[in-house]
Order: sequence, then C-alpha cells, then structure tokens
Amino acid sequence: MNKNKNNKAIWNSRIKEDASILFQKVGNSIDIDKKLFKEDILGSIVHVEMLFRQKIISFKIKNKIIYGLNKIEKEILKNKFEYNKKYEDIHMNIEKRLFQIIGEDAGYIHTARSRNDQVITDFKMWTSSATKEIIKNLNDIIKTILKVSEKNIETIMPGFTHLKNAQAVSFAHYLMAYVEMFNRDKNRFLYNIKSLSECPLGAAALTGTSFNIDRNFTAKKLGFEKPTNNSIDTVADRDFVLDFLYSVSVCSMHISRIAEELIIWNSDGFNLITLSDKVVTGSSIMPQKKNPDLLEYLRGKTGTTYGNLFSMLTILKGLPISYFKDLQDDKEILFKSNEILNNCISILNEVLKNLRPNKQQMLNLANSGYITATDLADYLVKNHSMPFRKAYQITAMIVNFAEKKNKKLNELSAEELKKIEPKLTTEVLKVFNVKNSVNSKKSYGGTSFDNIKKMIMKYKKDIK
Ligand code: ARG
Repeated sequence: MNKNKNNKAIWNSRIKEDASILFQKVGNSIDIDKKLFKEDILGSIVHVEMLFRQKIISFKIKNKIIYGLNKIEKEILKNKFEYNKKYEDIHMNIEKRLFQIIGEDAGYIHTARSRNDQVITDFKMWTSSATKEIIKNLNDIIKTILKVSEKNIETIMPGFTHLKNAQAVSFAHYLMAYVEMFNRDKNRFLYNIKSLSECPLGAAALTGTSFNIDRNFTAKKLGFEKPTNNSIDTVADRDFVLDFLYSVSVCSMHISRIAEELIIWNSDGFNLITLSDKVVTGSSIMPQKKNPDLLEYLRGKTGTTYGNLFSMLTILKGLPISYFKDLQDDKEILFKSNEILNNCISILNEVLKNLRPNKQQMLNLANSGYITATDLADYLVKNHSMPFRKAYQITAMIVNFAEKKNKKLNELSAEELKKIEPKLTTEVLKVFNVKNSVNSKKSYGGTSFDNIKKMIMKYKKDIK
C-alpha cells in the first residue's frame, strides 16, 4: 500500500506510465517555483491548523504534519533538500518529502484543497512581499535624489523642450520631477497590495469543498483581509500578476527616461554631467572612451519588462476560466520582472549617488539659445501693460536683432533694446540673468528655489 514511498508521481494510481522524458523536461516548473517554498510551507501549516480546529483531522496528525513541514523548511534553508523534476513543482516536491518523513499521515495534508488554490495562495503572498520590497527600494532611490537635489537647488541649467533650450531651470527641479514619478510608482505598488488582500485558499480545484473549512481563519492567519468570493474566479484570476507587471513596466519606463536623459547630458555634445568611473566602461579599440553602458542597460531592460506584461496579457487572452497549464508561466514572468526592476533601481541609485553636474557648462548652456526670451516678454506685460501677444512679437524682434549681431540676449545694451522698444530702460537687463529667471518662477510647482526647498522638505518628511 505504501504507494508514495516509491519514486512515483502522486497521481500514479490512475496514470500508470511515467510522463515521457520530454514532458517531464518541459512540464516541470521546480527550478522556477522553488522560490515559493516558504509561502508553501506556511500555507500548509495554517491549512492543517484550520483542518484540526474544524475537527477534520486529529491533533496528532496535525502535529505530525507540522513537524514534517518544519523539518523540510530547515532542509531547504540548509540546501539539503533534494528537488526532483519528476514531481513537477514545489508543492508536490514538499508533499513527497513529507511522505518520506512522516509516512502515510502526510496524505491528510491535501484534504479540502487543490494545487490550484494552493499555488495561487503562495504566489499572492510572495508577490505581496516582493511589492513591499520594491516600495522600500523606491524609498531608497527617492532619498538619494533628495540628497542630490538638496545640493543643487541653485545649480542652473537649461530646461529643454524638443531638446532645444526652452527656459532656465534648477538642476534640482529636474531631479525632483523624478521624485514625483517614483512616488507615483510607490502609490501604484501600494494600491496593488490592496488588490492582493483576498485569500484563495479553500477554493480548492474550482468549486470550493464539501468539508466544513474556515476560510476566514486561514485568510487572517496568512495575512490576507478576507477569503475570495468566487471559487472559479479564484483559480482563474491572474489580475494581480498583470497589476504587478504593469507597475513594473511603468516604473522601468521612468527609469529608462532618466537613463536616456543622463546619456544625453553625458554626451560630448552636451557635457552637462560627469559619470563616475564606477558606472562607465571603456572601449576595446578607442582608448579615450568612457561609455555610459549601465544607463543603456537600464534603457534596454525596460523592453523586457514591457515584453513580460504582454506575455501575460496574451496568455490570459481567450483562456477559459478556472485552471489551465498555460497559467504556470505566470511565475517565471513575474519573478523575472521583479528581478529586473530591483536591479535597475539599485543601478540607478549607484549612478545618481556618484554623478557630478558640470555646473559651469550647465550655466554656459543656460546662457545660450536666447533662453530668457520668455522672461523678457513677461517683463513687458508686467511693466509696460502690454498684451502678451504684443510682448511676444517685440521680444521676437529683439531675438532676431541679437541673432543678427551674433550676441546673446544678456550681451545687448539698453540702447540697442530701446531702438526696438522705446519704452525699455536699463532696468530690463536684470531679466536676462538666468538665476533671476529660475527664481522668478514662484507659481506652485514652479522652479523657484523656495518651491524646490519646500518639496524636498515635504518628501523628506513623507519618507521618514
Ligand atoms: N505548478 C502549477 C502551476 O504553477 C501548479 C498548479 C497545478 N494544477 C494543476 N491542475 N495542474 O500552475
């Protein structure tokens, strides 16, 4: 009778032949889902505690199973556990080992559950922890950006639209834009934790169970808020995987945008920042090169995270509800995206911590391209009661004049300006100072130094 002591799969009483070697090779997922061992063991312990409380199994059997499961956890942690591909996945590997340790009583563990609800319970718990870890890492990157911003409130650089000089900004204001993005990412992940709050355990294969189980008990004990409402939806639902993959995609898109920005600023044409030697690589032929490879890695990996989101969407499209093997790929995809994102956040953190703004070059570039033209137009509106459109025209004439004379706006004299607009006096010259220009943008959310300081304070407080 001791069927499970031999080297057979657990369902061997019905399926007489071993799976073909090819199927064993492709159908198993143990190398991937072994990551779920902790959640699987905890889920099983809580499950048998509930079975005992509900008088479905005896005290003795419950304790025996828990003893066996704890022993298995230790073996896994000490790398002494032998994974066998023949048993497909982590759930069956653990159950098989339980038989070896405690004998036939191990057979009670799978009362009133199925792998379908088991796998999704483990996976939801894992995803919830991974989400919390990402939020922690996002806090770290935000802290780094706040530190760099604090040191660069009065570092003036050109702000670009269409990659052409637009208006002067503080370097810190640029960086703080990324704090906004990472903060939205954090909120997106926080929202996902909420969507992970329903416990699948007890949905069994797809119908629920005729045993008198207590799903509220298992849900609470495993850190969920409540059990799921519909057993078929429970085993079919992978929306939480999509939420995770989408959030990873958006976050890596943000990382990719900052990476691209830094690559441009680091290029010889711009030369606005210097990257630390720690994050650049040399060329095998051009001895002078310091290439921003790591930033390019960040930009490239974003493609993989989008691909993963689309893989999962495609797997789910048209799949009838309840469980199908198609779903097994969900874990490989999510684990990969999770790993990529955490790597990317760490890399970006390292890059930002060691980045040096080339302040003089930033200022020089901010002083070119007639960047204070809008300030001049605003000045005319405010001081010479003109409609903005008229002020715009006069300013355009002044820019044309400066271009013809091959001068920057701040190199024009009051006399030259007066020839175009007689109302102007020497007082106007102050608007061509880029620092004044930056600090004049005091509207809420603008680049004035005070605004930036306030935002840095706000986020510092939020993160504490
Ligand atoms: N390893 C499987 C997965 O991750 C577990 C679910 C198996 N259920 C089944 N009916 N084959 O999808």
